[in-house]
Amino acid sequence: MSTKQFDVVVIGGGPGGYIAAIRAAQLGQNTACIDEWKNDKGGPALGGTCTNVGCIPSKALLQSSEHYEQLNHHFGDHGITADNVKMDVAKMLARKDQVVKQNNDGIVYLFKKNKVTFFHGRGSFVAAKDGGYEIKAGEEVIFAKQVIVATGSNARALPGAAFDEEHILSNDGALRVGAVPKKLGVIGSGVIGLEMGSVWRRLGAEVTVLEGLPTFLGAVDESIAKEAAKVFKKQGLDIQLGVKVGDIKTSKKGVSIAYTDAKGEAKTLEVDKLIVSIGRVPNTIGLAPDAVGLKLDERGAIVVDDECRTNLPGVWAIGDVVRGPMLAHKAEEEGVAVAERIAGQHGHVNFNTIPWVIYTSPEIAWVGKTEQQLKAEGVAYKAGQFPFLANGRARALGDTTGFVKFLADATTDEILGVHIIGPFASELISEAVVAMEFKASAEDIARICHAHPSLSEATKEAALAVDKRTLNF
Ligand code: FAD
Ligand code: NAI
Repeated sequence: MSTKQFDVVVIGGGPGGYIAAIRAAQLGQNTACIDEWKNDKGGPALGGTCTNVGCIPSKALLQSSEHYEQLNHHFGDHGITADNVKMDVAKMLARKDQVVKQNNDGIVYLFKKNKVTFFHGRGSFVAAKDGGYEIKAGEEVIFAKQVIVATGSNARALPGAAFDEEHILSNDGALRVGAVPKKLGVIGSGVIGLEMGSVWRRLGAEVTVLEGLPTFLGAVDESIAKEAAKVFKKQGLDIQLGVKVGDIKTSKKGVSIAYTDAKGEAKTLEVDKLIVSIGRVPNTIGLAPDAVGLKLDERGAIVVDDECRTNLPGVWAIGDVVRGPMLAHKAEEEGVAVAERIAGQHGHVNFNTIPWVIYTSPEIAWVGKTEQQLKAEGVAYKAGQFPFLANGRARALGDTTGFVKFLADATTDEILGVHIIGPFASELISEAVVAMEFKASAEDIARICHAHPSLSEATKEAALAVDKRTLNF
């Protein structure tokens, strides 16, 4: 029997894993977390993809580049002008690294505060033993009564075009480009493509996005996707849909991408750098699932039921390594729910009310069903929409792009989906999530007093629009 024994061992210290470890410890479980991420000095860097090369650094760069864009193109409207505006990319990246480090350090502090034992290194299954599992944690072997696997995901590469992070960039390289490329190519007009494409476009790169599907943002409500396409085009993002990417060649000069456009014409795109953002694959590298017979599906995701139970007793899996949306907050919710289930409580995740946000400018956020989904499902619904152009706070901000859209059940008026494109959509969507969680009707939102002047009044007005009684439009 190994020396160190734990009630719960979490493999992976991303948002799913570290939150699961904290919640398990809060519930009185003797808990360990194993994470292998290394910082530049070889030390631990807790927080996983999200903290190190995902949510946090991308939002830091989005903020810096948005300030630059505002100063260059929008502050003039406020009477603010500046000569000789410069972008110091090295400083911007250093600030981003500092923000990441604050988050890494914050998790170390939280582990200490909650008495979570941390092992820096790889975690892998050794064997099932004595009603639990032997787990290799770096150089040691420890024993776990219950295991939570939260090993996340990795960027998907195009066949024949491996990431070199110099010319062909994954999300990792896309966050570390040392100078603004003159020409940037992006393959995939999904969330990463749009966010990272926006960063480098704002800083002056000529950005071309090649998307395989004929529809732009197919998972987003059609009217929102249409508005987004219009705005991004105006901003200068060249998004080409329905393309078929062929050979990709790198040279000292950059990257050459052969592709066929939507009309079937053969074309070549020459760029300095290429970001490939065509989705992510679940990560079980180094986990040794075979050592214990942990079942994976054909995509390499760990097979779990609705409550994150795997095929093995006492082994759970959460976050990007299992089915469902690859989002940090989804991973966190699953982590909390599993920790609570282990402690005998009734953990709960409502997959119908997980919000999505794309942090472009304007931001895009939604929760629940899209109009095209409701049509396909044959649900009778009512729609209401309100433009930010008619909102006083948006006018004062100087940011009137977009609208809020409500979809409610035609009979019961229950809110079925809320879709926002516009300023601070990421914050505004929370009201809709709360409302849907409590099964509110559009009328409920319409009758709630919202502060004036605030962007949230657009939410209230969109709810009023469901009943065709907007007051300010
Ligand atoms: P991860 O965060 O991937 O963490 C897994 C951890 O496990 C890593 O630290 C890894 O090193 C470690 N690990 C793996 N295998 C082992 C092993 N065998 N032993 C020890 N350690 C191991 N989501 C949002 O909700 N909002 C956003 O704004 C957002 N922005 C994003 C931007 C980008 C550029 C990217 C790439 C992703 C973004 N995401 C965002 C998605 C988000 O990062 C993921 O959904 C989230 O990180 C998943 O959390 P996780 O805990 O499942 O896995
Ligand atoms: P994505 O799934 O969002 O988009 C991938 C896009 O690439 C799709 O539009 C797809 O049609 C296209 N594509 C796939 N193969 C292609 C090919 N061979 N040629 C051309 N186009 C192709 O994936 P992305 O952008 O890589 O992001 C991965 C995940 O990370 C997201 O799905 C999301 O879960 C998460 N994420 C979340 C963010 C947020 O919440 N704000 C930000 C960034 C990432």
